This record gives sequence, structure tokens and C-alpha cells, in this order.
Amino acid sequence: MAAAQLCVRARLYGYPLKKVKMDINNLQRENIKNLRPYSTARDEYKGQASVFLDANENGFGSPLLQEAENDSFKNYNRYPDPLQLDLKDAISKIKGLPIENTFLGNGSDEAIDLLFRAFCEPAKDNVIILPPTYGMYEVSAGINNVEVRKVNLLSNFQLDLDGIAEAIDENTKLIFICSPNNPTGNSIVRTDIETVLTNFKGLVIIDEAYINYAKQRSFIKELTEYPNLVVLQTFSKAWGLAALRLGMAFAGRPVIDILNKVKPPYNINQATQDIALKALQNIETVNDWIKITVAQRTQLSADLMALPAVKKVYPSDANFILVEIDEALNTYNALVEKGIIVRDRSKVTLCEGCLRITIGTPEENKTLLETLKTL
Ligand SMILES: Cc1ncc(COP(=O)(O)O)c(C=O)c1O
Repeated sequence: MAAAQLCVRARLYGYPLKKVKMDINNLQRENIKNLRPYSTARDEYKGQASVFLDANENGFGSPLLQEAENDSFKNYNRYPDPLQLDLKDAISKIKGLPIENTFLGNGSDEAIDLLFRAFCEPAKDNVIILPPTYGMYEVSAGINNVEVRKVNLLSNFQLDLDGIAEAIDENTKLIFICSPNNPTGNSIVRTDIETVLTNFKGLVIIDEAYINYAKQRSFIKELTEYPNLVVLQTFSKAWGLAALRLGMAFAGRPVIDILNKVKPPYNINQATQDIALKALQNIETVNDWIKITVAQRTQLSADLMALPAVKKVYPSDANFILVEIDEALNTYNALVEKGIIVRDRSKVTLCEGCLRITIGTPEENKTLLETLKTL
């Protein structure tokens, strides 16, 4: 049995334990350790200048210039800041975290992929995922030729700590914990996550895509406590900017430095940086939407439970609910016929007979409900 495995077991059975010691730099792949990252023209010169002839850009401007009423288009002929410092500064004010602890990706999906590329040796290392959960962890593993070990959640959708301990070996590099979990909607018990963080020698990635809708507080304040913690958040959900593709990874400095080394140089384009900066000035609207969504979640859950076909609505900390319903697939198809799309999860482990329904606007939720009543 591997040392890490013993550690988790000892903790489970109540032995006092010291936190696992770890050096993140030793966790990265050997080729990444030795990698000299691409140095961009913008990395090499950062001062004030008036003539930029260093990056083979088009000095005349962009074709947008003629049409643009908006001044922000004027720099689109120039490469963007590779480290997105202005945007990170604005995010850090909201999150209360230093920018050194922040990585931005083209969606959190990019951060997930980079974690595989930086830390997992293809055809040798493995990762642990906890189904039913978000599908991209397994897809990214497949793309990177990394073995996936699945430890199903328990029937209450919480962690099977014993199963996780069994699955870990010396080649286990990442454990993905989604909280609140997609598609079940529940938050994972905090002390269970802490047990894994304390005892596992690899990275623990807590995917908090839906944290804005949860009562449980984020793990981003625990970064100083756990060098192996990576927290993922996104602009795609509560922030209403799924089309922008902007995700955040928060971690200790060594992990962030490794992700920055591996990322494509200009992974966040200028339009995304400009729009996100504007959106961050409008946090009140986002907070209002969160309140409405949470209230609608309670209302829609109760209304659905009143329908004879609905067997169960699982409690949710996210902006969706998992609903067990008679003839899930037929209901899904009938809704599609009426122009309403939900997610069929009826064949997914532990979600048999279930649909996943996003909480929409009050009008959208009403339309769904009225339509279900007619089926
Ligand atoms: C748990 C979870 N993580 C991440 C994502 C994707 O986030 P992004 O749009 O930032 O790539 C999703 C999208 O549905 C998700 O459910």
C-alpha cells in the first residue's frame, strides 16, 4: 500500500497525523521542470515607449478602428498582456487574494487541461475523479493519455474516503472534487475535502464553478494552509459570461508559476480582458441575479415536487437541480418537441431516471412548469 494511501486510511480511522509534506516542483513532469518557456516581445519590454517594432504587429491599427465609436478597440492591433495584470488586479480586489495566486484560462476547461499537461506523465500517471461529476476531467485525461481512476460518490453524493484511499498509488497526481457538484448539485462536506487535502501528496483540485450559489464558503481562503490546493472558478455561470471563455485557477505561487510556464503565451485575448474588466464593475447586478436564482431554485423545486410524475428533487447548492422523474428520457424528448432543452442524465451513474434542469429566469421556469403539466 502506498504511503499516501496509508495516510488517508490513518486519518479515516482517527490516528493523529501530521500534514503531508510536499514540494510542488517535484510534482511537475520532468520535461516541464526543464522547460524554458516562450518569452514574448511583451515579456521582454515592459516600459513606456511610443514606437513598438518588436512583435511584427500591424502599426496602422485594426480595421475596427474606422467603425469604432468605442476607444477600447484602438489597441486591437497589439498583442495583449500575456499575464493579464489589470484584469487580475480587479479580480484580486473582489476575491481578496494576491494576483500571484491567480491564473486565468480560456475557460476553466483550459486550466483543467494545463493541470494534466504540467503534472501528469502520459501513459504513466493517473488521476482520481468522483462520478457522477463534470465530464471534462475525464475528457482532458483521455486527450492527455492519462489513466482515470473512478471512485463513485456514496449514495448521498458525498466522498467515499475509503475508496479514494484504495485508489491512490504513487503515480496518482490529481484528485478532482467538484463542489457544488455537477450534476448532483450538492456541496461536498468540508471536513472530508480537508481530509483529502491534508493527506494526499498530489494536487487536490476543487472545482467551484457553482460556488456563488452555495451556502458553503469557498476554499480560496485556505491556499496558505494547503500547498496542494487548486481552486477553480469561472465567469461562465453566476457572472453570465459563458461566451467570453474566462476561467480562474487559484493556487499557491509554485502551482501558478508552473501553469503560467505551460500556457499558450496570449491565452486570454484583449476583447475578453476588456469585457471582463467592464463586467467586474457591475457586481451588484450579478449579486441580484444570484439572489433571484437561489429563490427560484426553492420555488421551482417545490413546484416540481407537486407534479405527480416527479419522484424526487435533490437539494441543490448550484444553479440547477437534479430531478428524478417518471420516464425521464420520454419527458426529455417531449420537452425538446416543445422547444425546451434540459439535460438528460438518466443513464449516468447514481442519477438513473434523472433530468438536470438549469434554474432559468422566472419566466423560463414558469414555461417549463406549465409545459410539464401538459405532458
Ligand atoms: C463543474 C464545472 N466546471 C467547469 C465548467 C466549465 O467552465 P468554463 O466555462 O469556465 O470552461 C463547467 C461547465 O459546465 C462545470 O459544470
